[in-house]
Amino acid sequence: MKLLPMAIFLLFALFVVSSAMDMSIIGYDATHMTTSDASYSSNWRTDDEVNAMYESWLVKHSKFYNTLAEKEKRFQIFKDNLRFIEAHNSGDHSYKLGLNKFSDLTIEEHRLRYTRAIPKSKSKKLKSDRYSPLSADVLPDSVDWRAKGAVAPVKTQGKCGASWAFSAIGAVEGINQIVTGDLITLSEQQLIDCDTSNYGCDGGFVTDAFDFIIKNGGIQSDKDYPYTAKDGKCDTSKKNTTLVTIDDYEYLLEESELALQKAVANQPISAGIAINSTDFMSYSSGIFSGVCGDLVNHGVVVVGYGSENGKDYWIVRSSWGTEWGEEGYIRLERNIKQETGKCGITILASYPIKKS
Ligand SMILES: *[C@@H]1O[C@H](CO)[C@@H](O)[C@H](O)[C@H]1NC(C)=O
Ligand SMILES: *[C@@H]1O[C@H](CO)[C@@H](O)[C@H](O)[C@H]1NC(C)=O
Repeated sequence: MKLLPMAIFLLFALFVVSSAMDMSIIGYDATHMTTSDASYSSNWRTDDEVNAMYESWLVKHSKFYNTLAEKEKRFQIFKDNLRFIEAHNSGDHSYKLGLNKFSDLTIEEHRLRYTRAIPKSKSKKLKSDRYSPLSADVLPDSVDWRAKGAVAPVKTQGKCGASWAFSAIGAVEGINQIVTGDLITLSEQQLIDCDTSNYGCDGGFVTDAFDFIIKNGGIQSDKDYPYTAKDGKCDTSKKNTTLVTIDDYEYLLEESELALQKAVANQPISAGIAINSTDFMSYSSGIFSGVCGDLVNHGVVVVGYGSENGKDYWIVRSSWGTEWGEEGYIRLERNIKQETGKCGITILASYPIKKS
């Protein structure tokens, strides 16, 4: 088992997102701040003020550290994050940052705990032109599958690196509701425990999850096979409970935002994004135009798109609970220069097919 995550690591290193634009934006701590941010920090909060904020943040997020040294170490990181957040929010940006449950983590810690590489599938499925843009297409200006009842409540992956499962399940929940009219919250845990082509909390392939669901004859509900946030033994005793089935799955033929738009106009889409920044970790609202990462490492569901004040965005569901972002969602800027889209959102776009 130990070697498998390594294999994933080697594979995902192949999928590097073009991020030249991202590189120009500031890093996470004071030493990397731009001139305007640096002048901001000169009249910044006193340690007493920061400490009071830290104490109330600890209470709010029920944080306990085993040692005083750890508490002090976390305070310094909290302070760096707070300074970064407030410097950002003092500027004119399309999105805001805020303290959240990740605010005592460095970006490296956050990346290691809450993301895992998601490579392209090793399975041989062909890409499909089902959602390839055609000149005759008339796509809606905005789509929000939440409003159409096709999106289950935001989930919380915890310290288990199974965003691949949350991404796949979200798309299956969506297509199932669209085809049958029933929104059934489905089981990530069954994938984590039973899909042996993937690596449970150590990462996985979204499309192999679809493969498992097809071969298994369906996927159980979250209620029947609840989430534990850790790797477990596959429980086959629930064979007779309801299974939600899919017939097939595909990748988008083009890594393009127009193809993704057409796809999302039809159903919620599984996608992977590349994240490795304090910007993303501390996102609280608005249309995100900040720093992403270089490697696709977080599975999400694209549940819609729209525009606000002339700025186009994707509506993206994460699996970090409702306390992060806009009630668990982030709006990523859309129709940008990079064809692969913001944070590489088009690179791994895939979706299940369900006929009945
Ligand atoms: C499952 O279904 C089979 C066939 O209908 C039945 O014999 C079996 O008792 C059921 N098992 C459970 C656990 O309900
Ligand atoms: C994350 O970002 C840091 C700092 O920019 C960089 O050194 C590191 O290689 C990145 N890691 C990954 C996995 O992208």
